[in-house]
Amino acid sequence: MRTLEWNPKNNSLTMIDQRRLPEVLEIVSYRTHTDVAQAITDMVVRGAPAIGASAAFGLALAGFESAAQTPRDLFAAYQAAANILKAARPTAVNLAWAVDRILVSALASDLPHADDLRVFVLAQAQKLADEDVEINQRMAAYGAELISDGDTVIHHCNTGALAAVDWGTALGVIRTAWEQGKKIHVLVDETRPRLQGARLTAWELSQYGIPYEIISDNMSGYFMRTGQAQKVFFGADRVAANGDVANKIGTYMLSLAAHDNEIPAYSVVPTSTVDLSLAHGGLIPIEERDPAEVLDIRFQGERVTPLGAKARNPAFDITPNRLITGIVTENGVVYPPFEINLKKVVKQ
Ligand code: MRU
Repeated sequence: MRTLEWNPKNNSLTMIDQRRLPEVLEIVSYRTHTDVAQAITDMVVRGAPAIGASAAFGLALAGFESAAQTPRDLFAAYQAAANILKAARPTAVNLAWAVDRILVSALASDLPHADDLRVFVLAQAQKLADEDVEINQRMAAYGAELISDGDTVIHHCNTGALAAVDWGTALGVIRTAWEQGKKIHVLVDETRPRLQGARLTAWELSQYGIPYEIISDNMSGYFMRTGQAQKVFFGADRVAANGDVANKIGTYMLSLAAHDNEIPAYSVVPTSTVDLSLAHGGLIPIEERDPAEVLDIRFQGERVTPLGAKARNPAFDITPNRLITGIVTENGVVYPPFEINLKKVVKQ
């Protein structure tokens, strides 16, 4: 199944509960937009494209929840739901992008009956989800050309099918290269504190039969320095107009080490992740999450941190454009100068 799917039998949004993997593959179902917003905040669903598509279906749910009899009243309900959904997580721009895209098309539709608008909004959400899969496969085709037979690739966070509607961004590239017959090996950053790499990327790689080993985030410099890795791939939650990349915390240090070792580092993003309204990465809002995500860990059954310890937990960092070799999009690979070249692919 896809990471998230609309269930037409009872007008609900069905998704994989990513908090339970790899132990349990649990499917959950939501019938209200507020529940979808909470699921995004709680990381039942996570990854920039996946939360965008979830929010799009969340808007569709808001339409079925509303008793509005006129398109005008229904549109007001969509706007109220949009505000709730957009506030669920701040960094990934795909969330606001998806919600705004549906709102704009709903407003332009000028349909005479509220029920027609409900059906239209659901169809728009489904279209956005279907496009996500097709876009990921186009990115994967471009990105796979950057991987050579025999490469060992370091990958950060989870960027696979679970982070999108299907297929994925950076991990989609790796999967396509593998399916092309390239013998590759993946070093999977465990990605503290939520461990998306160790839990989700490793699980996905196991499903595809791609050879991998999990490393803790602080090992990647060692593997690059000793010639045991040839490429670095990650996704992004937002790319500024100058090519600065906001991605899962740790991406900056990984890219620094790659740069120092002259190892190419690629960010793989749909153009919906590029935010041309922000001149540079310093303007991207960084989500700071509950310190418990850092503190509540156990090693061999024992609590690791002293009771009462404090922690900081920024969920993302900014990698400056000078550390990024190329940005892979569905319209091709973008190289520096990003200020000029990103605009060209986003406009297409
Ligand atoms: O906090 P998360 O798990 O939503 O963060 C996800 C990432 O940082 C991914 O690498 C990112 O969304 C880009 S690829 C889908």
